[in-house]
Amino acid sequence: MTALLDAGERLGRDELEALQLERLRATLRHAYENVDFYRAAFDKAGLRPEDCRTLADLSRFPFTVKADLRDNYPFGMFAVTEDRVRRIHASSGTTGRPTVVGYTERDLDTWADVVARSIRAAGGRPGHKAHVAYGYGLFTGGLGAHYGAERLGCTVIPASGGMTARQVQLIQDFRPEIIMITPSYMLTLLDEFERQGVDPRSTSLKVGIFGAEPWTEQMRGEIEERFAIDAVDIYGLSEVMGPGVAQECVETKDGLHIWEDHFYPEVVDPFTGEVLPDGEEGELVFTSLTKEAMPVIRYRTRDLTRLLPGTARVFRRMEKVTGRSDDMVILRGVNLFPTQIEEIVLRTPGVAPHFQLRLTRQGRMDALTVRAEARAGASTAEREAAARSIAAAVKDGVGVSVEVEIVDPETLERSVGKIKRIVDLRDAG
Ligand code: DLL
Repeated sequence: MTALLDAGERLGRDELEALQLERLRATLRHAYENVDFYRAAFDKAGLRPEDCRTLADLSRFPFTVKADLRDNYPFGMFAVTEDRVRRIHASSGTTGRPTVVGYTERDLDTWADVVARSIRAAGGRPGHKAHVAYGYGLFTGGLGAHYGAERLGCTVIPASGGMTARQVQLIQDFRPEIIMITPSYMLTLLDEFERQGVDPRSTSLKVGIFGAEPWTEQMRGEIEERFAIDAVDIYGLSEVMGPGVAQECVETKDGLHIWEDHFYPEVVDPFTGEVLPDGEEGELVFTSLTKEAMPVIRYRTRDLTRLLPGTARVFRRMEKVTGRSDDMVILRGVNLFPTQIEEIVLRTPGVAPHFQLRLTRQGRMDALTVRAEARAGASTAEREAAARSIAAAVKDGVGVSVEVEIVDPETLERSVGKIKRIVDLRDAG
């Protein structure tokens, strides 16, 4: 077992914390000396990098938010000269300027290492074939997974997203053991396998490494059962690196171990910014510990989760992400996340694992309609029962009334990457 772990994974907790502190202090210095934004922010707070003497001292330093990256578009957050930047990625965002991130040669090396470590934790081994169906391009998913799989010693099939019929064919012909893909796109593949008359349980796939969007235990159950594979969670964000910031281990499937030798996590109260003790839910914040091109100090992810002690690894775990604070819907004072609806829809008989949330305004009140797709062959009575059951479960479990509409099979738009669960029609007039 230990033979499979790399040097970082074999550190003891004390050694790990000593390494984190050393790397943290170097990162604060690097950011302060080379990025105007950080120098101004630290100066304003009356802090110098050397004021960080313990890991807990980090909480005195200011946060960084997405708007700071946008304001410094495109390269203002870089801490190295442009000739040292080997790659750029960007996330589109919904409004205006994309968020740009950069990597030095060493950053790309670190990234490949942490993704290789992630794939190994998921059960991947050198010699396996890895079908990568995350999008290639400015999105970090495709290339991040790609170089990590190569680093581990896998044969990579760089399928990217889309052309679903061909994906199914490639999986049958090339016989990969591993698939790396968003969970919602995996469901689109499921439909396509069935359309082509291929039993999805009969493929060569053994492990699916799913991320880039929130997904629930119910979704894990659905995917594992329908494909006869192990389904594990991979987390990451472009601002911090890309995929491979945290990964669930296949032997425990109990949340994601954060690769804490490279990324230092905190969980804070999303309103006050106060650091919360491990075990309490709040907003995840990351400080990079080894990044050169674009160090991030206390970057607020807007992802909600909690920190838990390590199990299969020495590193702390984060619980599966409930959702982003941006995706939280507030209905008559009640907070609701799409993952809560996913849990309910996926355990309701008669409906397929496809749903969409439609937000409208009725008078001065917001209203939510859950649109779930009927399973093929479900009778009218079954559809009505499903609608009643979903509405009751949302009322009971979340504490708010919603409309439920059961739509015909194959009518909701399918995902080819990150799925958009919420359709906001409140300002549609
Ligand atoms: O989605 C990186 C990635 C690619 C991760 C492939 C995993 C697999 P961004 O486009 O910058 O980067 O989006 C980052 O996606 O802040 C979360 O809100 C969400 N996210 C990513 N992984 C997970 C996950 C990539 N496993 C944002 N569970 C993050 C829940 C996730 N949400």
